[in-house]
Order: sequence, then C-alpha cells, then structure tokens
Amino acid sequence: MIKACIFDLDGVIVDTAKYHYMAWKRLADQLNIPFNEKDNERLKGVSRMKSLEIILDLGSLNLNQEEKEELAKKKNNWYIQYISKMDKSELLPGVEEFIKNLKRKGIKVAIASASKNTKLILKRLNLEDTFDAVIDGTMISNAKPNPEIFLRASDYLNLKPEECVVFEDAVAGVQAAKKAGMKVVGVGEEEVLKGADKVIKNFENVDLTLIEGI
Ligand code: G6P
Ligand code: MG
Repeated sequence: MIKACIFDLDGVIVDTAKYHYMAWKRLADQLNIPFNEKDNERLKGVSRMKSLEIILDLGSLNLNQEEKEELAKKKNNWYIQYISKMDKSELLPGVEEFIKNLKRKGIKVAIASASKNTKLILKRLNLEDTFDAVIDGTMISNAKPNPEIFLRASDYLNLKPEECVVFEDAVAGVQAAKKAGMKVVGVGEEEVLKGADKVIKNFENVDLTLIEGI
C-alpha cells in the first residue's frame, strides 16, 4: 500500500527550468559557447557542477576546479536573482490541490531534489511547512540516477521503498527511483520518461486513483 509520495522539485512542483536556462544561457553567451534550449534538456535533474561541465564541453573549454567553482557561483547568483521574484503562480497546474488531497488522506509527502536552492524555492512558494520530509542537494553525496536521495526520504519517513511513489520529470530521476525500489510517475512526455510506471502531463484533473494500485 502506498503511504508516501516523494516529489522532485524543479519541473514537478514548479517551473524553474526556464530560470536555470536563462542563467546558464547568460553564462554561455559570456563564454562565447553556443547553447540552446535543446542542449538545456541535458541539464535536467543534473547537479550544478555537472551542468556546467556539459556546457564547457559544448565549447571544448578546459578549466581548472577553481575557475569552474567561480563560474558555477556566478550562474547561481543570477539564478537566485531570477527566482527571488517567483511566486505561487509558477506552481505546476494542479500540483497544490493534488498535495492537499494526499495529506487529507493521511499520505505523507516529501521533496527529493538535487537543488541546493530547495529551501529558498519552497519559501518563495509558501510551501516551507507543507512537506513531511525535505531532502535536497546539500544533504546527499550521490546525484541521481543514484537512488540515495529517495532512500534518504523513505528512511526519514520510516517507510519501506515499496510504500513510496516518486514523481519525476527527469530521466535520471526515474532511473534513481526505480533503483530505490519505488514506483514512479513521470511528469512530462511518455516518449522521454519510458521507465516510469505511469506518465502524466501535469497534475490537472489528476486524483488519487493515479496512485491506487500502481
Ligand atoms: C535540479 C534541476 C537541475 C539543477 C539541479 C541543481 O535537479 O533539475 O537543472 O542543475 O537541481 O540545482 P541548483 O539549484 O543546486 O543549482
Ligand atoms: Mg526535475
């Protein structure tokens, strides 16, 4: 029986992907590296440093660790500027209602996100007291597709992996959830999120029958 839903944050709860893209694009432009929205797809669910390395690769640019840290910091400062204006209107359609329904039924809700800005984003959205567990990029050593982040969430909730359903928009996230032994609902396109048990476009008109008998 499903006792908890574990949500990824970026692209599942809120549409922050466009702000990540704006900040990475600004950096790529400064470095004269060609970077477009299609390239940006590869950064989904991927850590900040790994994302930077993908961009540097596109420009065949080799930098040392210190230089990379500097650029990652620059990007993050821009990103924080952009998201500091964000509000509830940028929540994905239907997600807040879906979470409320889960809580009414006594199903636990958690966040498992690679983002080190998770707490800031939840605060901007007035969701900082909503979740029973919040596991973020500051608390883990292995990024998705490693299952660590999801196992930390189920541990925290004192539940078995098979009692949890994960909601993910990234391929690496779907793989991580499967490796953790959890059920997965993909949020996005079916062709992209092939390994998921079910796929939804967003949370509009989605009720709890979605996770019953998954
Ligand atoms: C999420 C996003 C990625 C982002 C990562 C790290 O997984 O999908 O695009 O790179 O978090 O985010 P951060 O806010 O720590 O730079
Ligand atoms: Mg995501």
